[in-house]
Amino acid sequence: MTRLAGKTALITGGARGIGRAFADAYIREGARVAIADIDGDGARAAATELGDAAIALELDVTSQDSIDRAVADTIYAFGQIDILINNAALFTAAPIADIDRADYDRVFAVNVAGTLFTLQAVARHMIDAGVRGRIINMASQAGRRGEPLVAVYCATKAAIISLTQSAGLNLIQHGINVNAISPGVVDGAHWDGVDALFARYEGKPPGQKKKEVAASVPHGRMGRAEDLTGMAVFLASDEAEYIVAQTYNVDGGQWMS
Ligand SMILES: NC(=O)c1ccc[n+]([C@@H]2O[C@H](COP(=O)([O-])OP(=O)(O)OC[C@H]3O[C@@H](n4cnc5c(N)ncnc54)[C@H](O)[C@@H]3O)[C@@H](O)[C@H]2O)c1
Repeated sequence: MTRLAGKTALITGGARGIGRAFADAYIREGARVAIADIDGDGARAAATELGDAAIALELDVTSQDSIDRAVADTIYAFGQIDILINNAALFTAAPIADIDRADYDRVFAVNVAGTLFTLQAVARHMIDAGVRGRIINMASQAGRRGEPLVAVYCATKAAIISLTQSAGLNLIQHGINVNAISPGVVDGAHWDGVDALFARYEGKPPGQKKKEVAASVPHGRMGRAEDLTGMAVFLASDEAEYIVAQTYNVDGGQWMS
């Protein structure tokens, strides 16, 4: 299958987890991929494993200079950017009474400002170069409703759903489709950290929270990064040309909207 033949993608936070799985899937579909991550060593290791179709970039989405450099380096390597996956994010948890302003600023800077200003930089390039591109933001079921210990992260993901709607409506006039994917609970390093935070705040033994969330998924298990690749390929493909400003749940049946 080569549904993305000739396309180039920039994937933020692509060194591991969901972004890494997307890089793999995109290359299998014929794309070339820039794996851009604050973890430069992780990005380089991933690109080496993926071979000639991948390059690694060190990117901090909280820095405009870093974003501009990553966009320029991707264009230099591949000629243009057809697809952006806005995937880099941080998780945090705390009861309302314990939320720390510096932690709030840190998580909003990555999850919300990082997403918006990477989207903006890539959209400017797409408009200038006449690329009818695709931008896929990573939302979450956490953005669909609040959670007692997860106010800040939930708010960032609600912001992603909203930004996807506004950017989708604004950029479709340039032939740029902006959509989002909303995962549920996807096992991996991210959820290892979530489990550890719940262990602290809910007094659970390590691994307990994962077992509980797995049991609560209608499908019957936690997600795997690979469960999301079909939607990521579809939204980047020609078949999704009429899809604008939407957020799709890929979560084993956890949320219906
Ligand atoms: N894993 C889940 O259960 C789950 C559920 C819903 C949504 N999501 C979302 O999916 C996306 C990927 O999740 P994941 O589980 O693969 O997460 P992850 O923590 O495994 O990977 C995130 C990547 O982002 C990178 N990153 C962090 N800060 C950065 C920065 N400032 N600049 C550039 N890169 C940075 C990290 O180094 C890491 O490689 C995230 O947006 C996450 O919020 C994940």
